[in-house]
Amino acid sequence: MSEPITFLNGEYVPHSKAFVHVEDRGFLFADGIYDFVLVHRGRLINEEAHLDRIHYSLGELEIAWPLSRDELKAALREVIRRNDLVEGYVYIEMTRGVAPRDHAFPKDVKGTVVIIARHAPYPSDSVARQGVKVITTPDLRWKRCDIKSVALLPNVLARQRAIRAGASEAWMIDDEGFVTEGCACNAWIVTDAGHVVTRYLDRAILSGITRRMLTEVLAKEGVRLEERKFTVAEAQSAREAFLTNTPLHIKPVIQIDDRVVGTGEAGPLTLKILASYRAFVAAQANQA
Ligand SMILES: Cc1ncc(COP(=O)(O)O)c(C=O)c1O
Repeated sequence: MSEPITFLNGEYVPHSKAFVHVEDRGFLFADGIYDFVLVHRGRLINEEAHLDRIHYSLGELEIAWPLSRDELKAALREVIRRNDLVEGYVYIEMTRGVAPRDHAFPKDVKGTVVIIARHAPYPSDSVARQGVKVITTPDLRWKRCDIKSVALLPNVLARQRAIRAGASEAWMIDDEGFVTEGCACNAWIVTDAGHVVTRYLDRAILSGITRRMLTEVLAKEGVRLEERKFTVAEAQSAREAFLTNTPLHIKPVIQIDDRVVGTGEAGPLTLKILASYRAFVAAQANQA
C-alpha cells in the first residue's frame, strides 16, 4: 500500500514527512482542539455537526479559524481522495500555531492545521453488537470538558487503567460520585421503565455528535430520554448500559467494574437503537 497522505497547513505531504514545529503550541501547551469524523462508503458522516463542534471549540479557546470552513471541507475531501479512504476516519487537529514559548497568546500567528486519514473497517453487525467491559475511575480532568481540547492526559491515564484491568474503556466519576462520561465516549444506561438516561450537557462532558444524533433516533423510536446525572451504583444495577462515540456508534456495556450489567449480554433496547443508528449512518452514506 502506498504511503498515507496527510494534510499539513495547506499541503498534502507523505505521512512520514508530516512534521510540526517543536514550538507549536499544541506540543508545548496542548493549546489546540481536535475532532474525529467517521468516513463510511467514502463519505463524511455528520460532517456539519463535527464542523460546528470545531467552531465551538476554537471559539471557546479564542483561536481564529486557520482556514475557512469551506477550505476545511475541501481539504477533507482531498485527503479522502488522495488516501482512497472508503472506510475509516479523518482526524483533524488545529492549534494556536507556532511561536516562542510564552503562556500568553502570541500576536499575528496563524494556527496549525493537520488532517490525518485512517483506514479502519466499518464494524460488521456482529462486531457492533458485541458488549464491552468498562471500569470506573475518578474524573481528573479540567472544568471545560465541553471543549474538544487536545489536553487529554487524564483520559490517556484512565484508558490505560482500563486496559490493564482487562476492560476497554473507563467511565469517569465526578467528586459527588456521578458518572460524567468515558475517556472517549458518552455514557448511558437504561432504567427498569425502559427510559434511556445520559448526563445533561454542561461543562463536565463533551457534546458527543453520536449523543446528539442518538437523541433524534430515540425521539423517532418513541423512547423516553432522561438527561440527568446517574451514579455508578445506578449504572451497575441498570437494566442495560451502553456508550456512544463516532467509531463505535452505540456500544453495549456488559460489565462495570466487577458488576455484570443486566443479563451480561447486549440488551434488547441497546440493540434496537444500535440498528436504528446504523440505518441512519447508512442513509447518510448513500446520500448523493
Ligand atoms: C471525552 C469524550 N466524550 C464523548 C465522546 C463522543 O463524541 P462523539 O460521539 O462526537 O465521537 C468523545 C469522542 O471522542 C470523547 O472524547
